[in-house]
Amino acid sequence: MTDMSKVTIHMVSSLDFFIAKKDGSVSWLQSSDSYEKGATYEDAQEFVKRIDCFVMGSRTYEHALTLGWPYGDVPTIVLSHRALRADRESVEFYSGDLHKFVNDRLKPNYKNIWVVGGAMLAREFIRLRLADDIVISIMPIILGDGIRFVDEIEREQDLHLKDVTAYKDGMVELSYEIRKTG
Ligand SMILES: NC(=O)c1ccc[n+]([C@@H]2O[C@H](COP(=O)([O-])OP(=O)(O)OC[C@H]3O[C@@H](n4cnc5c(N)ncnc54)[C@H](OP(=O)(O)O)[C@@H]3O)[C@@H](O)[C@H]2O)c1
Repeated sequence: MTDMSKVTIHMVSSLDFFIAKKDGSVSWLQSSDSYEKGATYEDAQEFVKRIDCFVMGSRTYEHALTLGWPYGDVPTIVLSHRALRADRESVEFYSGDLHKFVNDRLKPNYKNIWVVGGAMLAREFIRLRLADDIVISIMPIILGDGIRFVDEIEREQDLHLKDVTAYKDGMVELSYEIRKTG
């Protein structure tokens, strides 16, 4: 499946590029804005069905458990150096080299792979050039501080803008392909 497999990083961000508030609250992910010309969202369950594997850092995993698991029964791999216990059958853990993880564990087994954060893991995937696409959903809010989306990638990378969609609640989704050269 390697040739057809794609690793997409997806994050939701404020306009000032924070993906989480310092206190971890997520109320800002619900927008009260309204943009008449915007698109309506696809049903979340239908969307999740098209994904073959979710990947996340342990902090995102622990936060998702407290919020209510949004990833259904889709296979999910959590990166952690700790011996965490899986609360769900669909969850496995991995620790170690990310090149090996992507090439030996993810790509041979899954086609549509979504890395859903957090910032620490997304940064490593981008820095090591292990992702194919980045989808960033920008909410109509300035948070002022918090956890920053991609800090200090340490290398320039060219992107190709594949798609832009604005939604009725004012969220704008930007889809990029990471160019293999540059
Ligand atoms: N707005 C959004 O789209 C979005 C998306 C996701 C998360 N978030 C928020 O972001 C926050 C969490 O983000 P974060 O950047 O602090 O953390 P994170 O990226 O979710 O998790 C970092 C942890 O992942 C583990 N890890 C990373 N690379 C590893 C490797 N190669 N091998 C083994 N383990 C590895 C380590 O876990 P151990 O310490 O266990 O070893 C590390 O501490 C939460 O508040 C969450 O709600 C927001």
